[in-house]
Amino acid sequence: MYKFLGIDSSTTGVKALLCDEQGTVIGTASSELPLSTPKPLWSEQDPTDWWNGTVNSIRQVLAQTGISGEEIAAIGLTGQMHGMTMLDANGEVLRPAMLWNDQRTGPQCDDIRARLGKKRLVKLTGNDALTGFTAPKILWVREHEPDIYAQAKQILLPKDYIRYMLTGEYATDKAGAAGTLLLNVTTRDWSQEVLDALEIPREWMPKTYEGSAVTGQLSATAAEATGLKIGTPVVGGGGDQAAQAVGVGAVEAGIIALTLGTSGVIFASADQPFVEPEGRMHAFCHAVPKRWHMMGVMLSAAGSLRWYRDTFAPDTDFGDLLIPANDVPIGSEGLLFLPYLTGERTPHPDPFARGGFVGITIRHTRAHFTRAVIEGVSFGLRDGFELMKGAGLTDIKQVRVSGGGSKSPLWRQILADVLQVELVTVNTTEGAAYGAALLAGVGAGTWSTVDEACQAGIELTGSTKPTTEGIAAYELFYAQYRELYPALKDISHALGQVV
Ligand code: XUL
Repeated sequence: MYKFLGIDSSTTGVKALLCDEQGTVIGTASSELPLSTPKPLWSEQDPTDWWNGTVNSIRQVLAQTGISGEEIAAIGLTGQMHGMTMLDANGEVLRPAMLWNDQRTGPQCDDIRARLGKKRLVKLTGNDALTGFTAPKILWVREHEPDIYAQAKQILLPKDYIRYMLTGEYATDKAGAAGTLLLNVTTRDWSQEVLDALEIPREWMPKTYEGSAVTGQLSATAAEATGLKIGTPVVGGGGDQAAQAVGVGAVEAGIIALTLGTSGVIFASADQPFVEPEGRMHAFCHAVPKRWHMMGVMLSAAGSLRWYRDTFAPDTDFGDLLIPANDVPIGSEGLLFLPYLTGERTPHPDPFARGGFVGITIRHTRAHFTRAVIEGVSFGLRDGFELMKGAGLTDIKQVRVSGGGSKSPLWRQILADVLQVELVTVNTTEGAAYGAALLAGVGAGTWSTVDEACQAGIELTGSTKPTTEGIAAYELFYAQYRELYPALKDISHALGQVV
């Protein structure tokens, strides 16, 4: 029986996952990665570390499972999005890669908006210019490191550097390419208009492929390094969010993937490109051919609860922390939490947004604060839902929830009530690496479509339905929550200047 290998090169590590033709996970292995922040706002990694991590993790998963390279029918890639790797004419890396969470490119984002006009930029690429995206990073190197820029010949996303090391090909997937701000999200190829406006040569951009299409074959050098077989096909894969959505089966219109990790991501699949006119949601291609997705990223979701626990209840298990919050009434008796602990991306792209507890009285206990935190994060996710609906994605049938925060039944109920939709859990918990392995299986011909691959491996394991009283009560508190960001914006920005 054939096996498929998914490789997820995230910011913190490289994970290799093997699954079989039933979609069953046979093994995983991970290698940690260092991160460098040489200056405030900078976030960089050395692509050599990505490659070493990949080799280690592949070797480890093969050794652990006893599977030989011969049995692996295809490889799928996923990883952190938006990162900028710049190579010279010989394929040598010119400088450390600038990552998705690097914030240095504010002026370059303004420049991009000025060159194209924000409206045109959003219409073509689906997105506003954000500091994390790839294009402003290219402009930053042009302005600040002209000697390096003069040698540039190729731009690759992090996972596509691994693809290059595996196959020798310069290629990317359409979901990842959409996160560069250089792709025409409707035609699913590079936008000549955007490239011209930003004066970036088209030949620097790799060829784009659908998530399940074969982009190249494993080279002899890579086979030697990894223990895999020469010629093993490598498929497009997808950016981590698109692959994560495949990994929980959120591939059709109406099914939303909600990931409650450190950040909170809501991800809606669509049969056509949907763009939020102000660019407040990301509008990208899906890793599924002829499908798109809209996505909102909240920076501190389960991360807010972790911060709260670590600060106010260290040594308390999350489960124990949340039990008393069950007895606190909906709305935490008038205590609201604003979750912008690391600034925000959706719905307010504002690095100076700040968090807060508002409405504290002497009656409030620790249990109220705990509940207020998870309610506030849920309201923040509802903001993303509202933007999606406003952009035309109104037919929301089901939300597939995953990530650490989704383990709490209380949080799931609050989310179902706040979002007014059924929440389901699934059997697969390996996220993006699993999605990449399924895409590899489609590329190898085991499944004829991504939908079929998802049906093979993914089952629903639980459901949480909204309650009439929960919906009604949260409507009131959500309306008040929405008032908080505009009311506190000026003071938050002023405080940001002081410290
Ligand atoms: C997506 C995004 C993150 C990174 C890192 O837009 O910024 O998901 O890909 O995981």
